[in-house]
Amino acid sequence: MRKLDGKVALITGAGSGIGRATALLFANEGAKVVVADYVPEGGRETVELLKNTGAQAMFVEVDVSKSAEVQAMVKSTLDAHGRLDILYNNAGVLGGYVFTADLSEAEFDRIVSINLKGVFLGMKHVIPVMLEQGGGVIINTASTAGLIGLPGQPAYCASKAAVIQLTRAASLEYADQNIRINCICPGGIETPLARLPEGVRPPFRQPQPMRRMGEPEDIARAALYLASDDSSYVTGIALTVDGGWSTGIPKHPPKN
Ligand SMILES: NC(=O)c1ccc[n+]([C@@H]2O[C@H](COP(=O)([O-])OP(=O)(O)OC[C@H]3O[C@@H](n4cnc5c(N)ncnc54)[C@H](O)[C@@H]3O)[C@@H](O)[C@H]2O)c1
Repeated sequence: MRKLDGKVALITGAGSGIGRATALLFANEGAKVVVADYVPEGGRETVELLKNTGAQAMFVEVDVSKSAEVQAMVKSTLDAHGRLDILYNNAGVLGGYVFTADLSEAEFDRIVSINLKGVFLGMKHVIPVMLEQGGGVIINTASTAGLIGLPGQPAYCASKAAVIQLTRAASLEYADQNIRINCICPGGIETPLARLPEGVRPPFRQPQPMRRMGEPEDIARAALYLASDDSSYVTGIALTVDGGWSTGIPKHPPKN
């Protein structure tokens, strides 16, 4: 018996990075995966990768910041599978490194509408389905940037901190109705999102207590824990997976 046998999992932002790694791990554990993304090429590529392993998978194009599109994504999932057991609100964007006074209102709104409102809309349209079917699991994506401040990422930090609180509030609302809602706070993970354009340097030094970036699979395994019955008594948490980044100030590197 695999950990997600018979489950239907909807993963947003699954056309790349953490979402793709999670789609592959969930499918390997028996889930039918719905790959949602606003970049069709990436989403279809993930579906191909899944199908090559013999998994059942489909792609849905969605902009998670648009309520009607999120509703349509949920409907497509239900039309195909008749149920929805796991929602992973993973889609997100990082801004350029711009200080607060120089950040445009349009860019602030874009980041918050994807990273925060997108998570709200996912929960808003999926919770009624889960209530109707008697339960489910929701995983939201926050960040180390929701726990500590990063100069040049004011909107990103604010959106991710708010996801933690949104998760806590919603988790309490449905804790007695068999819906568990948690979030993950990834640290620096090797994905296209974390790759800076040539010549761009963040206005801070990123501490790496483990002296390495994380892999998308490091987060996928945390998502599997939260999606499966291994975490059956866990709700409302912000699970930090950041190699110690937000724990404190790392020691000096060893001298050789
Ligand atoms: N990589 C890191 O270092 C890191 C650290 C902390 C948190 N995170 C978070 O993890 C999540 C996944 O990021 P990743 O590193 O895999 O990045 P990524 O860029 O590789 O993947 C993000 C995916 O989300 C999709 N997406 C973006 N906006 C969307 C929208 N409006 N609607 C639908 N899809 C959309 C993109 O097309 C892309 O496929 C994000 O929420 C990100 O903020 C990443």
